[in-house]
Amino acid sequence: MNVLVLGGAGYVGSHAVYQLVEQGYRTIVVDNLETGHRGAVHEEAVFYQGDIRDKDFLRSVFEKEQIDGVIHFAANSLVGESMENPLKYFDNNVYGTQSTLEVMNEFGVKHIVFSSTAATYGEPEQVPITEKMKTDPTNAYGETKLAMEKMMRWCDEAYGIKFVSLRYFNVAGARGVIGEDHAPETHLIPIILQVALGQREHITIFGEDYDTPDGTCIRDYIHVDDLIEAHILALDYLKRTGESNIFNLGSSRGFSVKEMIHAAREVTGHPIPEKIGERRAGDPSKLIASSEKAKKVMGWEPSRTSIETMIGDAWKWHETHPNGYDDRKGE
Ligand code: UFG
Repeated sequence: MNVLVLGGAGYVGSHAVYQLVEQGYRTIVVDNLETGHRGAVHEEAVFYQGDIRDKDFLRSVFEKEQIDGVIHFAANSLVGESMENPLKYFDNNVYGTQSTLEVMNEFGVKHIVFSSTAATYGEPEQVPITEKMKTDPTNAYGETKLAMEKMMRWCDEAYGIKFVSLRYFNVAGARGVIGEDHAPETHLIPIILQVALGQREHITIFGEDYDTPDGTCIRDYIHVDDLIEAHILALDYLKRTGESNIFNLGSSRGFSVKEMIHAAREVTGHPIPEKIGERRAGDPSKLIASSEKAKKVMGWEPSRTSIETMIGDAWKWHETHPNGYDDRKGE
């Protein structure tokens, strides 16, 4: 089976490419390298540099490769940036998906697995969050992902393009040779580990006055390799059932920011000084997934659910790659 991975040079996409190659899929990667890294792409994958909004470019890839299914990770994903520049998000995320679906339809490709987010729910009325709960994004990033899901639903009705949308909670961990490298970095675990590496003096906790046991925000962390296993199951699900569906992916357990810092101290042996700062705009207090549906319907079983494993695997990557992929072009 030939799988096209859009955004296969990014943090999550590159982990998908490794698993696909290891499982014998012929893997074709498209990435514009705006935030991705060429060095993150498995050497056995076929790589095309280009932008999914460029339909002629996409057509040329579909012409050269016999694509059986698409996994779509190519999107901007920073909540804060999306609030400052929503049109960038509508353009790259929503229009990029439109262009992808148009070209898929032209070439008769009927299956797409889509990288969605818990940010589609907004501030939940209760946790754990199930797929039946209302979607009401509190930021432009989540709004674009919801719009992309809705677009796929109508393309299913009109053209029979079947999709599985996977709503991720907080993705963590890495594998030895690839890992998380964003510039600028905004995510909690890499920032904590940068403190442990001596690249930052302290971690600032964004608010200690939330309605949670220790006052800091609670998130549901999922190991990137468990997350990717669900994508491969989703490809099988599409082939088996020919039906579209939406699944949450998390570990169904919440950890506060303080608990994460504590666990990172244990893993790294570094004191990791902390300071309390202001709340960050748009942060919900508590996000925990119910992933029962993915387990029941797709047979997904996450196995790397210990927070020490997730932080430990991220730490191995950060320790061996203190400057990430080291490919910054003066940005
Ligand atoms: N945090 C800090 N200090 C920091 C960085 C983060 O206290 O320096 C806190 C945040 O306020 C939040 C928690 O750590 O409470 C996790 O923050 P991240 O930035 O790591 O992740 P988010 O929960 O904000 O966002 C992630 C993804 C989004 C996705 C969202 C869905 O980055 O793309 O999960 O739940 F939309």
